[in-house]
Amino acid sequence: MNQTEEIKAKLDIVDIISEYIQLKQAGTNFKGLCPFHNEKTPSFMVSREKQIWHCFGCGEGGDAFSFVQKIDSLDFPEALKLLAQKAGVTLKKQDPKIASQKSKLLEITRLSAEYFHKALLDSKEGQIARDYIDKRKLSPSTVDDFKLGYAPDSWDRLLNFLIKKGHTTSDILLAGLIVKNEKGKTYDRFRQRLMFPIFDQNGTIVGFTARVLDDAKANQGGKYINTPQSLIYNKSLVIFGLDKAKKQIKENDLTVIVEGNMDVIASHQAGINNVIASSGTALTLEQLKFLDRYSPNLAIAFDADLAGQAAAERGIETALSIGMNVKIIQMPEEINGQTIKDPDDLLNQGVEHWQKAIDSAISFLDYHFNKQFKTFDKNDPLQKKEIAAKLLKQIAKLNDSVEQEHWLKLLAQKLDVSESVLRENIDQYLERKNTQNNDIKFEDTKLKNREHLLAEQLLALIFKFPENLEYLINHLDLEAINEPSLYNIYKQLILYYNKVNNFDYSEFEKILNNLDSNLVNNSSALLLLADKDFSDFKQADVKKEIINILKQIKKNYISKKIKQVEGLLKQAENNNDKVQIDELTKDFSILTQELNQL
Ligand code: GTP
Ligand code: MN
Repeated sequence: MNQTEEIKAKLDIVDIISEYIQLKQAGTNFKGLCPFHNEKTPSFMVSREKQIWHCFGCGEGGDAFSFVQKIDSLDFPEALKLLAQKAGVTLKKQDPKIASQKSKLLEITRLSAEYFHKALLDSKEGQIARDYIDKRKLSPSTVDDFKLGYAPDSWDRLLNFLIKKGHTTSDILLAGLIVKNEKGKTYDRFRQRLMFPIFDQNGTIVGFTARVLDDAKANQGGKYINTPQSLIYNKSLVIFGLDKAKKQIKENDLTVIVEGNMDVIASHQAGINNVIASSGTALTLEQLKFLDRYSPNLAIAFDADLAGQAAAERGIETALSIGMNVKIIQMPEEINGQTIKDPDDLLNQGVEHWQKAIDSAISFLDYHFNKQFKTFDKNDPLQKKEIAAKLLKQIAKLNDSVEQEHWLKLLAQKLDVSESVLRENIDQYLERKNTQNNDIKFEDTKLKNREHLLAEQLLALIFKFPENLEYLINHLDLEAINEPSLYNIYKQLILYYNKVNNFDYSEFEKILNNLDSNLVNNSSALLLLADKDFSDFKQADVKKEIINILKQIKKNYISKKIKQVEGLLKQAENNNDKVQIDELTKDFSILTQELNQL
């Protein structure tokens, strides 16, 4: 067994894929919403028995390796590493000289995290950081889980350490850990800061965010500085905390979004794990689509300052535009005389306060209704107009018209105006939204033509209910199937059945495998399709469905033949070929008769 096979044997594809999306049992297989294209009804299937997946919407499919490669944008060696880790298989050492650029940068980042972490735990000068950790009430296990670290007050210590480990200055620069000044001199980017590694959703460290230890020095480069965008760190994709939050997000069916990394860490420390950080910027469409895979529900806590609110609003707008549900977490302004500006402050007053704030989050529109009706006086005509304008703008952001209707009614009631007036006014906001929405393009589904889909369904039905195979063979010509791989499968099916007069899928699969392993893949996909579409079918439904599909396939097939004959007939007429004309005319009438009889 090679290492790839060893890893596959130790893992279950259903577990792997369940880490990314919700799967539900369908027949002997599993079914879910495809993460690779936008869909509302599931066409993504996973087979535990065959350890494969296939999406009937977009046509993608493969094994565990191809799944993680595609969903995490990994090359094969990276996928191998990731799955080896999950399977507990130690990979044979790779020669660093032939390692890919990306894996070199990952190794540099991993080593740096180790270096910072050790400096925080053991070094003498790390005391200043250990004091800070105490002040922020972070426990040893939190420091360990988040692999917090300390960047010493030095210009070149990390650089020297990494060079001693065999890495080149140019790779270290690409990983963003050193900076080059105008004179070409290089120095460590992070100095005398508390280091927070940034993990991707699989727990691989891809960068750092670093906090000043002395708030008075925050103006030297900012309170936080971050790794720049790199080959391994894509700011608009990575979400701080997701690797540790994803399990709880799926279980609670809710993602809690906070602004600060510190808020995430404090929340996890207190045992509330479904929390991630927007890190002070607006969440991007990619990030939100990513979160949507785990749960469509968001609860957002933004800091009291205006910059935070503006960023949150942009994120909310994007989330609503893809149909996510957004709630707002409201935090008390103070507790026990302490001002509360963020969840971390709230947690310091006791986890129950933060839990209560999350539990009593209100819908995004309730939040705006409260806010506007509090700010303005609805009895003053000018202010009334203001309330309507502000709320219509928010209502227009919803992507569901039933929901919109609900809020319009409520607004009309509360303002004591007619709904139709509001409806006229909302149009201006809706139009703007529609043009904005055009920018958000989902990957187009590769559309199979109808003929292909029908043939696929027919064979899937036969695989699942093989007692109908003889009926099929008696009623459908091989030539009626156009798509090459389905044609081949059907051809082998006929040969096989004529020989043994029986059907056993695994026997049949062996025959296909001897011919062409691609045929096996296509045929396995048909088994999945059967569970996707027909797992709740009863005997009587099956026969009806087969007859129905057969009819449509034949209709297509005969119509096509008629077109061909018409073409030939025209040619024969041009050539004045009487014999041909006669024959073709006969064919033509037989075919039209057949078509009419269907
Ligand atoms: P503490 O002050 O340590 O509690 O951190 P915080 O996370 O509460 O910070 P704050 O609320 O000020 O900011 C929220 C988030 O915005 C931070 O976690 C950072 O991701 C980001 N941020 C804040 N200040 C800066 C900065 O100066 N530069 C950059 N790049 N990001 C910042
Ligand atoms: Mn804070």
